[in-house]
Amino acid sequence: MPKITIDGTEFEAKDGATVIQTCADNGIDIGHYCWHPGLSPEGNCRMCLVEVEKAPKLMPSCMTTVGDGMVVKTQHTSEKVREAQRDVMEFLLVDHPIDCPICDQAGECKLQDYYMQYDRQPSQVPLDSKVHKPKRQKFSEQVTYDAERCILCTRCVRFCREIEGKEELGMINRGAVSLISLYNDEAKLSGDYQVNIVDICPVGALTHSDFRFKKRVWFMDYTPSICAGCSRGCNVTVGSHNAKVYRYKPRENQDVNQWWMCDEGRLTYKQVHAEGRLLKPRLRSGGDNSEYTDWRRVLDRSADVIKLLEKKEGPQAIAAIGSPLASTEENYLLKKLFAARFPGAKVAFPAADLYKEGGPDKLLKTGDKAPNARAGAALGLTDTIESVIEGIEAGTIKALYMLGDDLAATGPLAERFAKAAEKLSWLMVQSPYYHATAQRAHAVLAATHHLESQGTFINFEGRVQRFAPAIKPQVEARTGVQILQDMAAALGADIPGGEGAQVFDALAAEEKQFSGLSWNALGDQGAKLGQ
Ligand code: SF4
Ligand code: SF4
Ligand code: FES
Repeated sequence: MPKITIDGTEFEAKDGATVIQTCADNGIDIGHYCWHPGLSPEGNCRMCLVEVEKAPKLMPSCMTTVGDGMVVKTQHTSEKVREAQRDVMEFLLVDHPIDCPICDQAGECKLQDYYMQYDRQPSQVPLDSKVHKPKRQKFSEQVTYDAERCILCTRCVRFCREIEGKEELGMINRGAVSLISLYNDEAKLSGDYQVNIVDICPVGALTHSDFRFKKRVWFMDYTPSICAGCSRGCNVTVGSHNAKVYRYKPRENQDVNQWWMCDEGRLTYKQVHAEGRLLKPRLRSGGDNSEYTDWRRVLDRSADVIKLLEKKEGPQAIAAIGSPLASTEENYLLKKLFAARFPGAKVAFPAADLYKEGGPDKLLKTGDKAPNARAGAALGLTDTIESVIEGIEAGTIKALYMLGDDLAATGPLAERFAKAAEKLSWLMVQSPYYHATAQRAHAVLAATHHLESQGTFINFEGRVQRFAPAIKPQVEARTGVQILQDMAAALGADIPGGEGAQVFDALAAEEKQFSGLSWNALGDQGAKLGQ
């Protein structure tokens, strides 16, 4: 491995690595616009210049491969480099419209950041003599382009070509009137991953319709989390403010999603505020429909009915169905509750293909819309939904406790399940939504969305990944973990307490497939089962 000295300190570089990559690997920040570690280097912005010993002129660090014995000075130690960066900044800002106060990127814009870090010169070009270019051009329903803010780094062009495999954008014209254009004026961006170009645009030239003008970025809180749109479990950062979630942005995880996420998954944060969210528990008393109630009543009434049924029919008359939409911790506590209180009772888990919608694509989407499909097998929940339906049809199962799923409206067994559910003396559904199955329930336990709670999902490759609450539970919804603990207390069962983190540590200490894992060891990048 070649050795390189950067600003007086010696480092080992990976074979074939560039100077900028080696600096990034060692925590040395070099100003850059066009370089992105996930794209081919193009060396067009000249912001990353460094002084290389014996080289006749400054070199772009994104295009310079490390050689053994190389000695490099960055902007941290070289006045020549700082001077060059000021020149680059001046050049980039010559025709910039200086519309930062109304730009969505303000607060996370590399032009702003580098102006403060490296430039700080007054503009020498009066605003009324700047070159004007098209503004607010729709590249698609989701992506809007402002040519005056564009610094022509071509990250967007390279993303479409290299990651999406689509030749849809290119640079046209020359000099001061150059801009990025769709190849065909009539066309729009067509990819399923197009909003990633908004993320990687270093300035405010590309904006996302869903987020434009909704919230200034400095007001938001940022929470690392997981997209629950499919079983890939792309790592995301949640932007929220005052109990409202405003956006997902992809968070780098080289083992899961690299730097990207799909456009469909990006919008799944909206489910936390969706119509049909259950914000209070409901209880059916007499009539066909349940009504809003308080937690004490729904828990006490459910526990009383279940105890009566158990006394009359035995513990196996009570069954449960876990869910690939619920956290690993909820499924584990459901298993613990039933093992402690109803020995021999069925605890089923939906079959792996229940949420399959088409096949995987070439980049990230798995085609399996369940974020936690591996939880059932990992926790040993081997009973099938069919066996539970058969038990209800045969009259041996009288009460059912379900997590999350809308089985009365999902999959090939929906109709049969809906019919069987009518025979139940007590159906309890724990879910964030008042869906078709919840509407048939005697007791509806208003659970939080994963963005309001703490826990893990296991992705399709067996990687256990943590999520943390980005916002507080809305109104009276409780976390699934808390509801199960409350239900266990009402039924007189002893199950692990605490929040998602403590429950995960309890399950990791007990379940074979999780051995060696702990909440802290999962960190922000997750860890694989059985390693
Ligand atoms: S739109 Fe953004 S990403 Fe694309 S070339 Fe311009 S500045 Fe770069
Ligand atoms: S690929 Fe799946 S997990 Fe990733 S962003 Fe899309 S829906 Fe979400
Ligand atoms: S980052 Fe190296 S030239 Fe742009």
